[in-house]
Amino acid sequence: MHETQSDPTEFWEDLYAGKSRWSGNPNPVLVDVVGALSPGRSLDLGCGEGADVLWLAGQGWDATGVDISSTAVSRARAAAEQNRDSMPGSATFDSGDLAPWLARARVEALGPLDLVTASFFQSPLDDFDRVGIINLAGEMVRPGGYLFALSHFAPPDWAPAEHRGHGDMPTPWGEVLDLSVPAGSWTVQISEVRERKATGPEGQIGHMKDTVVLLRRER
Ligand SMILES: C[S@@+](CC[C@H](N)C(=O)[O-])C[C@H]1O[C@@H](n2cnc3c(N)ncnc32)[C@H](O)[C@@H]1O
Repeated sequence: MHETQSDPTEFWEDLYAGKSRWSGNPNPVLVDVVGALSPGRSLDLGCGEGADVLWLAGQGWDATGVDISSTAVSRARAAAEQNRDSMPGSATFDSGDLAPWLARARVEALGPLDLVTASFFQSPLDDFDRVGIINLAGEMVRPGGYLFALSHFAPPDWAPAEHRGHGDMPTPWGEVLDLSVPAGSWTVQISEVRERKATGPEGQIGHMKDTVVLLRRER
């Protein structure tokens, strides 16, 4: 991913065109961190093909996922339909640009949230307001609820030099400053970098570093 100027819907639709983009497995860090929380009502920002939402529903969450790509959302809905009977919670998906989506009235139908998740909700496009969108969703979290953000801390070992430096790569300390808004309303439960092994598009074995932040809303 190295474009910086493009229509976001077209950009992400192109990325999802053709075959499935992701593994279908939930992000292991989400499983580890969110697995410790009691199920409730959740919203996943940039849910892609829905693996995190489906995992949450499997744990008893009433989980909603939103993504700008209608192709990705169709795949997520099909997977939810296939797994519906085996999930104690629910998995619901919607497509749209989250900036206007969150500002629209339909959010009222979701009610106060127990959890907002944003896994690799990152984009190489210049006008992508990641922090603004996450904070807008954070306003919907009830006191006692959580905000989970998992993101690339650094490009993968195999990324070509010309692709490095594109897109936002949040640091744990930067995330806490950017996402603890309004000040004093959130406490930091986790703010760290975790490293994992990963395989590149050409089968390269390397390491990925992820920024992991879990905030709890206090008031
Ligand atoms: C790198 S992918 C991550 C997908 C998934 N969360 C995961 O962990 O595999 C980023 C996702 O954000 C979505 N996205 C980007 N900008 C968006 C926006 N403004 N509103 C909603 N979704 C957006 C993309 O379509 C894409 O599916």
